[in-house]
Amino acid sequence: MFQEDTVIHIINTIHEMQAYANRSMGRKKSIAFVPTMGFLHEGHLVLMREGRKRADILVVSIFVNPAQFAAGEDFDSYPRNLDRDLDLARKEKADVVFTPDRTHLYDDGFQTYVNLQKLPNHLCGISRPIFFQGVATVVTKLFNIVKPTVAIFGQKDYQQLAVIKRMVRDLNFDIEIIGVPTVREQDGLAMSSRNSYLTPEERPAAFSLFKSLNTAQRLCNEGIQDADQIIHQATAIIHSHKNTEIDYISICDPDTLEEVKTITNPVLMALAVKVGKTRLIDNMIVTP
Ligand code: PAJ
Repeated sequence: MFQEDTVIHIINTIHEMQAYANRSMGRKKSIAFVPTMGFLHEGHLVLMREGRKRADILVVSIFVNPAQFAAGEDFDSYPRNLDRDLDLARKEKADVVFTPDRTHLYDDGFQTYVNLQKLPNHLCGISRPIFFQGVATVVTKLFNIVKPTVAIFGQKDYQQLAVIKRMVRDLNFDIEIIGVPTVREQDGLAMSSRNSYLTPEERPAAFSLFKSLNTAQRLCNEGIQDADQIIHQATAIIHSHKNTEIDYISICDPDTLEEVKTITNPVLMALAVKVGKTRLIDNMIVTP
């Protein structure tokens, strides 16, 4: 039997992870959980620090989830570096890194998925129709395996956080969901594992997402309430860079994600833009 308080444990099997969780519960130790797809950056590390504060034990999962990638998306090329990730998790004093094998989570007969009725019908769910089904399903599975009392997610993936919160309510998971503000590079670009795809020439275009969000807030400060006018300006900022392709720019209700035409209350402005081959997302709450 290993000493559960001293070293980081790298667990690869579902059975071993569940046994660890059960032992922890038996010892009255609470578990904080940070699910990730690895290639860790400061954004992930901030989530881990939050988890560290909120429970006795910190479990981080690293699993590039095939169920949330459509054919033709970057599942195969998604950046991976397990050794580096383990070093970073160790430095953050994670107790467990759970890295299940793909075939353990999805065997040949797999056929049960978790689907939300409304939240995925907006923003990223439109151009990535299977994405939120894949996320909700894998997070449900991971919750059943890791058995956390609290789980930490980033607001950078705003719609994902909304989906998880709704799912936890709807399915009565006894897990507290914490959202952590977006961690940014010095220039304001939201940190993402996919930023590693960007070439130096593409960085200014990548930065234009954050720039357009700040411009939106500035326009609101000047009294502009018309969402279309703000989206028009944001579009111009992004299109001023070559090799950019806007997937969506949306101004919407922060709870339902339904589009808003006139900004009278705080709204979510969210956007997805392809810069070269890299799909980037960002968002901000914009206040009138
Ligand atoms: P991944 O993209 O690795 O992100 C893992 C967690 O880190 C998510 O909660 C995400 O919102 C958060 N995160 C990423 N970049 C961030 C940043 N710049 N600031 C703050 N938080 C940030 O999101 C996923 O993986 C997957 O969909 C997953 C939930 C693991 C399910 O497969």
